[in-house]
Amino acid sequence: MPTIRFHLNGAATAVEADPDQALLDVLRSRLGVTGPHFGCGANECGACYVMVGDRAISSCDMPMWSVADKEVVTVEGLGSEGQPHPLQSAFIAEQAMQCGYCVSGILISAAALLRRNPSPTETEVRAALDRNLCRCGAHNRMVRAVLRAASEMAAP
Ligand code: FES
Ligand code: FES
Repeated sequence: MPTIRFHLNGAATAVEADPDQALLDVLRSRLGVTGPHFGCGANECGACYVMVGDRAISSCDMPMWSVADKEVVTVEGLGSEGQPHPLQSAFIAEQAMQCGYCVSGILISAAALLRRNPSPTETEVRAALDRNLCRCGAHNRMVRAVLRAASEMAAP
């Protein structure tokens, strides 16, 4: 199998993989990166989202060949326990996490939004999270958390 090289959460990464294998499979089963979750497997739910550039994209249907030489960020790359990303802190402050299954994908969608647009309106936040399904009913808290993080990140 060929070696596929890419950057994962800021680190140069090389993995021998079938070029057609889904990135999500390789992340979880080969690289121990388990933040992105398998939900629908069909680009319908957002549980598997990773960030490439300033876009949140589904990793469940993304073949490995398509990430060669790209920068991929998963929820593990946003922050750490000691140094959480402002979004992670805001989700805790707003108690926006419920079961947690879909939250890694939601954090990725929110982080990608803030990269593109550091001061989004509530409507823009809702639009950015629209593709992320969550059955816990925490959407309003999540929107508040994203807006809180944006204003904290904008503070001098
Ligand atoms: S598991 Fe990838 S979008 Fe649902
Ligand atoms: S936090 Fe998303 S389904 Fe529960």
